[in-house]
Amino acid sequence: MTSTQPTDPDWWRQAVVYQIYPRSFADSNGDGLGDLQGVISRVPYLAALGIDAVWLSPFYPSALADGGYDVDDYRDVDPRLGTLDDFDQLVAALHEANIRLIVDIVPNHTSDRHEWFREALASEKGSPARERYIFRDGEGDQPPSDWDSVFGGSAWARVEDGQWYLHMFAAEQPDLNWEHPEVREDFLTTLRFWSDRGVDGFRVDVAHALVKELSEPFPSKTTLPRQSESNGVHPLWDRDGVHEIYREWRQVLNEYDPPRSAVAEAFVPAARRARYASAEGLGQAFNFDLLQADWEYDKFRRVIEENLALAGQNGSSSTWVFSNHDVVRHATRYGLPKDPSGVWQDGKAWLLSNGTEPTVDVELGLRRARAAVLLMLALPGSAYLYQGEELGLQEVGELPAANLQDPAYFRSKGAEKGREGCRVPIPWTVGGLSFGFGPGGSHLLQPKWFGAYSVEAQEKDLESTLSLYRKALAVRRGLQTGNSLSWVDGTDWVLHFTRPGGWQSITNFGAAPVELPEAAVVLSSGPLEGDKLPSDTTAWLI
Ligand code: GLC
Ligand code: CA
Repeated sequence: MTSTQPTDPDWWRQAVVYQIYPRSFADSNGDGLGDLQGVISRVPYLAALGIDAVWLSPFYPSALADGGYDVDDYRDVDPRLGTLDDFDQLVAALHEANIRLIVDIVPNHTSDRHEWFREALASEKGSPARERYIFRDGEGDQPPSDWDSVFGGSAWARVEDGQWYLHMFAAEQPDLNWEHPEVREDFLTTLRFWSDRGVDGFRVDVAHALVKELSEPFPSKTTLPRQSESNGVHPLWDRDGVHEIYREWRQVLNEYDPPRSAVAEAFVPAARRARYASAEGLGQAFNFDLLQADWEYDKFRRVIEENLALAGQNGSSSTWVFSNHDVVRHATRYGLPKDPSGVWQDGKAWLLSNGTEPTVDVELGLRRARAAVLLMLALPGSAYLYQGEELGLQEVGELPAANLQDPAYFRSKGAEKGREGCRVPIPWTVGGLSFGFGPGGSHLLQPKWFGAYSVEAQEKDLESTLSLYRKALAVRRGLQTGNSLSWVDGTDWVLHFTRPGGWQSITNFGAAPVELPEAAVVLSSGPLEGDKLPSDTTAWLI
């Protein structure tokens, strides 16, 4: 196969990127686990969908202590998912279809099975092998500090000789010591390794971690600022020194033609996000603000204005996302009743009730999800879609405890149900052993209602959510020009903006139908009422 890799260095600025969680996308050999040949078999589907790029979540050798974000070897493929040769085939097949490939890179921590960590465990206290991680002595039986891991429980784990190592996530994910030159060098090697294989970009996992201020005595967690308000003073998150690392990465990424793109996953205040997204740094950063905004006019308007302004400051382009492998699917979130206390509806309480309490208004959730995606796809910047959202897929709330694998579930002792509900293998066919996921079963239990959401059920239905996504991506491709928008102000519940070239997007967050301006409707997320735009609906006009 010849690769037709396009050379536009700015391709990522307004790209539509589709996230594949490889273990749950398509299984080629019937072992119940999605794999690279499975993804290859679905490249025609991805091409028909009309995306610009795939972001592939970790496919590296891993014990799956954290769904693959515990990496044993950064420069290989998990044998259960395939081989490097399969990977090369995937790159070629995607490029042939004009689709770029972004891979996930996990620099804050390795897995506890990584050769460096095994060496550290086999070596004694104070040895150079332990220097690549963060080993410290505790006080008697107590860990070196009272810090909590993100998934719950202590951030320190004890090894046989009594020392402790830091893990900001699961104990199987020891944090690397980024002061160590070998650690820095090795990640540059990894960036080159995948770039040489034709990868177009990288998604950088917890990009705001890495650099830590670890002088002792360690401050107690009670004195630490909240992660979201870190502002460069938190010892563990978003320290300014991290940008030195990304400057080095950028130099490596720029050795390629076109330069490899990178997008930071950085949970930092909006004003500090720009540093990650600078041209000397990674270039782009996720913003989870729309994902965390309730379905309300004010919130959406504020988030969009703020993010466009911030992205404009440093010549980056904004990102938009509603769903990913870490959150309850937005078609479900939008169908949950509003929390009376006004906190963001993340759906976690609903998950804890196994999807029974409160009742999800599935129809409303889907209606809003459809309106939301047209709104997002009309915005300047790049849009990240998560596998299955193009089917309007709901979160699986009813997964049995035996299926749960998320360290967030175990480490919180069940106070969180975890993230499997959005990672259930997606349905391709109406029936069959695993709804077409593969010739065998599925590693997570697919509910009976999955068949109705399948690709097969939706493909020929012109009104289906899959058809809406396909049309929207095709129309967007034709209308997309400059990376800017102008607001059209009217009422406080109709979000209306125009893009260069006369493309208009109008979303009605209000309860009653509203008049549409005089222009041709090219697409709407649901049926219009005469020439009016109903509640929770978006229309594109030109
Ligand atoms: C990121 C990933 C998440 C993972 C965590 C630790 O937030 O998206 O899935 O658990 O990093 O690597
Ligand atoms: Ca498989």
